[in-house]
Amino acid sequence: MLWPYPHRIVPTFFESTRTLQAMISSPLMTVMVDAVRKAARGLKRDYGEIENLQVSRKGPGNFVSAADRKAEEVLRDALMKARPGYGLVLEESGIVEGADKSHTWHVDPLDGTTNFLHGIPHFAISVGLEREGQIVAGVIYDPAKDELFVAERGKGAYLNNRRLRVSGRVDMADALVAYGSPYLGRGDHPKLLREVAAVMAVSGGIRRFGSAALDLAYVACGRSDLYWERDLQTWDIAAGIILVREAGGFVSSADGGAEPLAARSVAAGNEHLHGDLVKLLRRANA
Ligand code: IPD
Ligand code: CA
Ligand code: CA
Repeated sequence: MLWPYPHRIVPTFFESTRTLQAMISSPLMTVMVDAVRKAARGLKRDYGEIENLQVSRKGPGNFVSAADRKAEEVLRDALMKARPGYGLVLEESGIVEGADKSHTWHVDPLDGTTNFLHGIPHFAISVGLEREGQIVAGVIYDPAKDELFVAERGKGAYLNNRRLRVSGRVDMADALVAYGSPYLGRGDHPKLLREVAAVMAVSGGIRRFGSAALDLAYVACGRSDLYWERDLQTWDIAAGIILVREAGGFVSSADGGAEPLAARSVAAGNEHLHGDLVKLLRRANA
């Protein structure tokens, strides 16, 4: 008999009945989830080709860029069709001005490109909606694990219909801390190394997973206790910021500022540990 659940996370009977009622149902969420699922179909197909291309000398670089661009086109077309006036900030094709100046989509068609390129199944599509300077909705989809993270302001955050809550850990010595490192030739490497040394010295463990969007989603669902990264872009973090906040967590800039989107950096975690992380980062750079 075929296993009835296509997802890796297999809901128990009680979970599946309880959670089916809890998913956010709004016209906005339908638009976002439909667009993301549509783009994911192509991305999944292309990911299936990657293994064959690893053995070539140059690797699958150009193929991945094409997959990335195709996914972005699908997202752009679907979002523009559903909300014609909204502006877009797209990683690959830049800014599209909209007639409606109060709404902007922030779109990353493939977050975790390096993982995708190397055949590591940890990457995502990320779409966030900004209204009057505030992020009001976010969708992050991990096609390899079929994990859909959604959040809308005031309506909570969900993973595949399960309500999310950040972790309850209170002790840094137990905390799993994710971080991001800048690409070759970008960012401040010595600064990151000071920060990593400071966090490693007191935390339960550190991880560099390779997708900023999923790093935030993992804080939202309690897999990671904390996450920080600098030198990001709005499309990397817009959706993740609302996920963490709707899951009861805190997100600031890496320096503790209230506007992570504008600062292009994040420190995220639960209410007990977030402040400690910001203090550690500050001290590391003092
Ligand atoms: C990158 C990933 C990575 C982060 C980088 C981002 P991309 O996005 O989110 O985890 O460390 O700063 O640029 O290039 O894979 O879309
Ligand atoms: Ca990207
Ligand atoms: Ca990205």
